Amino acid sequence: MSELKNDRYLRALLKQPVDATPVWMMRQAGRYLPEYRALRAEAGDFMSLCKNAEFACEVTLQPLRRYPLDAAILFSDILTIPDAMGLGLYFETGEGPKFERTIECMSDVVNLPIPDPEQELGYVMNAVRTIRRELKGEVPLIGFSGSPWTLATYMIEGGSSKTFGKIKKMAFAEPKMLHLLLDKLADSVILYLNAQIKAGAQSVMIFDTWGGILTPRDYKAFSLAYMDKIVKGLVRENDGRKVPVTLFTKNGGMWIEDIAATGCDAVALDWTIDIADAKRRIGDKVALQGNMDPAMLHASPERIREEVKTILDGFGDGGTGHVFNLGHGITPDVTPENAGVFINSVHELSKPYHS
Ligand code: CP3
Repeated sequence: MSELKNDRYLRALLKQPVDATPVWMMRQAGRYLPEYRALRAEAGDFMSLCKNAEFACEVTLQPLRRYPLDAAILFSDILTIPDAMGLGLYFETGEGPKFERTIECMSDVVNLPIPDPEQELGYVMNAVRTIRRELKGEVPLIGFSGSPWTLATYMIEGGSSKTFGKIKKMAFAEPKMLHLLLDKLADSVILYLNAQIKAGAQSVMIFDTWGGILTPRDYKAFSLAYMDKIVKGLVRENDGRKVPVTLFTKNGGMWIEDIAATGCDAVALDWTIDIADAKRRIGDKVALQGNMDPAMLHASPERIREEVKTILDGFGDGGTGHVFNLGHGITPDVTPENAGVFINSVHELSKPYHS
């Protein structure tokens, strides 16, 4: 069992005592960092960064060289699975991810292969192994995947969507077809995350970016049920330590009790729920991650510190079981200085809650 120099993040997820609240940022490696933009220009495009283990490792480590972050997150994307299923992922500047082929009928679903994580997705496992080696035990590495529902939105809509008309039409008119797709995706995610854990991921997170566009009933049937299947299918151990699982449904604040009931270790919150309210509802059933509005990073250092303090106060309770984060990804227009103010404020202001 290799020792971690800083295991605050893993300890907080398991609700064990820590000396300060751990912090990392969704999308911490990305376009707000000039060193990221330089390496992406050299690599050519985003997927070339992901597919080269040395590049993926370098961009994973970039934010850790600047800031005292408590975790590293694998540099990759949630859309690697549909890409490996043969849908042809590409990025159109300013328009986000797109697919050359989409899922339209039953035969499309039946013919979809379940990718072998060490073959078609072997580049992701190589990145995990390379990053673990280069992290040298400084902080834990987070692996991740998209939720089946969120992956299906991109596979059916062909990219980002405002109305989600195509996938909702399938959900309401052809539910069996969509359930078969979601079940195949859940099986693919189980294999993919278990392979990431075997390759060295010390914690895993599932991003359900679009679960929050559903009615409560449909959320349970089309999104949560498949995340539940995944949580139960994961081998949650690496190097003799428990591998915690975090579930994040953006706009899912109404459903945190149901999310916690899957058996996950932590529920990640966006900023539309008050963390004090979430904590009251969840008690010590699971840890909570979050939940500062990423746009607060445009405010003054004083205002950022004040917001950090408000969230720490809201969580309260000796501070254990809280992983500080933004409620969604950091945006490209944030200054690296303000990101630094945020991270340092969490460590500094949280110490009194843990003594
Ligand atoms: O958090 C991290 O730093 C780890 C890396 C990571 C990326 N994407 C890198 C990335 C993670 C965890 C993701 C997850 C992801 N990808 C999600 C779920 C989380 C969320 O944000 O809700 C979703 C929905 C995607 C799909 C996707 N990929 C989108 C919407 C985009 C942005 C498109 C754009 O132009 O803004 C991507 C591309 C992407 N993934 C970038 C990065 C750093 C930007 C690529 C670039 O232009 O350099």
